[in-house]
Amino acid sequence: MQKSWLHFFWARHQHYRHLQRAFTVSPHQDLLNTLKKDGIVVLDNFFPQEMVEPIANETFQLIEAVRQGQGDCYQNGGLLLIEEADQKLHSSAIFYEDPLINSVAKAYVSPEVVSFRRMVRYKEGTGHREHEDFQIFHHFDTWKLRFKAFLYLTDVGKDQAPLIYLQGSHRGGWRRKKEYEYFRYYNPSSPLGYPLNRENLYLGCFWPHQIKTLKHKYGFTDLICTGKAGTVILFDARGLHQGPLLHQGHRLVLTNHFNA
Ligand SMILES: [Fe+2]
Repeated sequence: MQKSWLHFFWARHQHYRHLQRAFTVSPHQDLLNTLKKDGIVVLDNFFPQEMVEPIANETFQLIEAVRQGQGDCYQNGGLLLIEEADQKLHSSAIFYEDPLINSVAKAYVSPEVVSFRRMVRYKEGTGHREHEDFQIFHHFDTWKLRFKAFLYLTDVGKDQAPLIYLQGSHRGGWRRKKEYEYFRYYNPSSPLGYPLNRENLYLGCFWPHQIKTLKHKYGFTDLICTGKAGTVILFDARGLHQGPLLHQGHRLVLTNHFNA
């Protein structure tokens, strides 16, 4: 069935009507105000070094184990992903069960928010062209509201593929055309709002000249999220973001994806 604009607006209306009804008052109002305005908050050194080190050590051991065939992972060149990180890393509970992060997710998305994907994301090696998928372009994840929390387990400088986020780009009528395009090709049977296939992932991407225009027109600026190990980043994944290529060293991150 062809999905028309009408289908899109109806689905969008239903999605937000449900969420807006569920908005709550939160003790973290400052964080929420920044999230609503910019779409992102960076909490430098949220976890101290003595708490992060054991998680990083256990995660590196897990990576080594999956490389030796003990467990599943997705590996493509210098990129390695391990799903269900919370179940495989005992020490990661500090991050996945953190009360502030979960409370902000609840207040920002809905009291019925669900953490649906918990992942280790590791990048290593430079010159690995396999890093080059849709994520190196500014993109949004889905037309629905999605919230993410990242924990850096290694120091991330400008050369270690820091998350880049176009502040303020999570809202505005200019997004509708692109969201509709995405809506047409996402898999309606996927409650997560994932696209039909990997090629369609590029539908959420913007060309560099389009980003330049958006910056000029709306005053958006890129936030380059460098940070020490222990830094937590909370962001609205409707906003345009990118994961640039690694130029030096490695980058180890735990991620938590929420929606409702
Ligand atoms: Fe993304």
